[in-house]
Amino acid sequence: MHEISTHPVPEDFKANALVNDELYQQMYRASIEQPEQFWAEQANKFLDWRKPWTKVVEQDFHQGQVAWFVDGKINVTENCIDRHLADRANDTAIIWEGDNPNESQNISYQQLHDKVCQLANGLKQRGVNKGDRVCIYMPMIPEAAYAMLACARIGAVHSVVFGGFSPDALKDRIENADCQVVITADEGLRGGKAVPLKANVNIAVAQCPNVHTVITVERTGADIASNGDIDISYNALCETQSRRCDAEEMDSEDPLFILYTSGSTGKPKGVLHTTGGYLLGAAISHKYIFDYNPGEIYWCTADVGWITGHSYIVYGPLANGATTLMFEGVPTYPDASRCWQVIDKHQVNIFYTAPTALRALMAQGDQYLTTSSRQSLRLLGTVGEPINPEAWEWYHQEVGQSRCPIVDTWWQTETGSVLITPLPGANSLKPGSATRPFFGANPVLLDPDGNELEGAVSGNLAFKGAWPSQIRSVYGDHQRCIDTYYTTYPGYYTTGDGARRDEDGYYWITGRVDDVLNVSGHRMGTAEIESALVLQDAVAEAAVVGYPHDVKGQGIYCYVTLMTGYEWSEELMQQLRSDVAKEIGAIARPDIIQFAPGLPKTRSGKIMRRILRKIAADELDTLGDTSTLADPTVVDDLIDNRVIPK
Ligand code: PRX
Repeated sequence: MHEISTHPVPEDFKANALVNDELYQQMYRASIEQPEQFWAEQANKFLDWRKPWTKVVEQDFHQGQVAWFVDGKINVTENCIDRHLADRANDTAIIWEGDNPNESQNISYQQLHDKVCQLANGLKQRGVNKGDRVCIYMPMIPEAAYAMLACARIGAVHSVVFGGFSPDALKDRIENADCQVVITADEGLRGGKAVPLKANVNIAVAQCPNVHTVITVERTGADIASNGDIDISYNALCETQSRRCDAEEMDSEDPLFILYTSGSTGKPKGVLHTTGGYLLGAAISHKYIFDYNPGEIYWCTADVGWITGHSYIVYGPLANGATTLMFEGVPTYPDASRCWQVIDKHQVNIFYTAPTALRALMAQGDQYLTTSSRQSLRLLGTVGEPINPEAWEWYHQEVGQSRCPIVDTWWQTETGSVLITPLPGANSLKPGSATRPFFGANPVLLDPDGNELEGAVSGNLAFKGAWPSQIRSVYGDHQRCIDTYYTTYPGYYTTGDGARRDEDGYYWITGRVDDVLNVSGHRMGTAEIESALVLQDAVAEAAVVGYPHDVKGQGIYCYVTLMTGYEWSEELMQQLRSDVAKEIGAIARPDIIQFAPGLPKTRSGKIMRRILRKIAADELDTLGDTSTLADPTVVDDLIDNRVIPK
């Protein structure tokens, strides 16, 4: 076990920080004790409104109902673009860094405005109206941001689907939100390899009769199959359009986007975020957590297919008039020095990434750090999964040369913006701790009966009271929203995470308490992977659990029972691994599949995952009681044939 040291705020950082400890305490207290006053002030400070609200917040957690800035009118793109034009039309809004290190581009706020308006006009021409859903299945190119903002300009609701998802996963999401327009690219480029986006869209929309338009950006110029009438090239649609498009006046509670995420049961659910509260949450958190000052270069390495890309590549930074870097490639191409090279090339001041990327880079050795100076860096951040202290110390000492604080930000697709984090000028850092609640966030730790636990203790992490960027619904299924987030502990928002609070009030996230995995920072339901396995002819039954993985955080371990007539073989196992990847996407490819003649079940037929988790983690001494199983002998077979991860 690595010794955990505490890192005080560096004196020179504190001197210039936007928020010091005293101010944090004062603002935090105000945000909890007088939330309406606090958020009204922030909403006026951070955003421009067309019409003021009549009520700051309405909430009923029992019904999963939350509304912020009721009756307020606003447009997200006026806040993210137009209002910056008067003073800084020529300042860079987006720095795009291509997969190829020789390719990059600076897009000014004026150019961003023009591109967004042209696409917005193009969408209108194709019949897209306020409230219509538009699917965006794109690589990390500027057009992905234009597409999101063009939707927001005209009040259409975007649903970005990560470009690594399979045609089937894409089809499910297009159907669920009834998207009639898809925006894509011919191919993506990652690590020198082409990703067949348009080909995937063709397969998906063949099963979606309601899709009337597919707009394709020419990224690689590959020769791709056409879908006939529904296809139009992005350039053909946009180049003749006017560079002006009046922004639609939106209600604060009008939907802004849907983003699918995994839960412990069923198919992924469409988390619905709305307009005013979401944008405020993204903007205020980006400003204070990253201590952002005008002119600084900020880089978040996420993909726009995830919530981190929505809130911290596009909406938060642009609302603050920041320069946000968008990276098309991967951290290991052409080699493991790529991130550090990009930091020097664009003089990045603030760098925000995932622990899994850091662990992968750390494993490659420190020689990749010697070809860059990284002197521009001032602040570092992590997101998506717990960071182990070893990786934290490496990030701090080697990448940040012990100069830069690290903000370990905890949040979820559903929370819209960060809720637990250090503020870099206010809090001493303890490696591995997400630290303290952000403004307006009121975390509690609950025992299994829903009692609030006091002091230094572990429990189920939940939140009391609403915050502006909170999930509003599960698209098309509000009951699922209530059941998932507001039913386990009535009166609270349940996160599904466990956490510990230490004697200083710092929070330590201990991981999911449900059947959700976090693999390389990607959230996945075990049920989804099991469904993909049992779809295969050879598979009778499957149970999937996570196990500790040095780089990915968690690996995917599957136990599979075969149909009669099938024999277990190395080929079959490899086949099943690729079947799952094909069904869901490469991020879901199992690490290990073990043949299981039987699964440990209770007498009522419920699979005891606890036992499967212990076997996968090779923690046999804490297997616990197996006597209640219908057939305790299956456990011996699973133990004898377990696969020990390399
Ligand atoms: O388990 C927590 C983990 O990621 C989950 C949310 O996943 P997703 O909705 O995909 O959003 C990821 C990006 C915000 C959480 O329930 N998680 C997120 N951030 C952290 C974390 N676990 C530990 N520490 C974090 N900083």
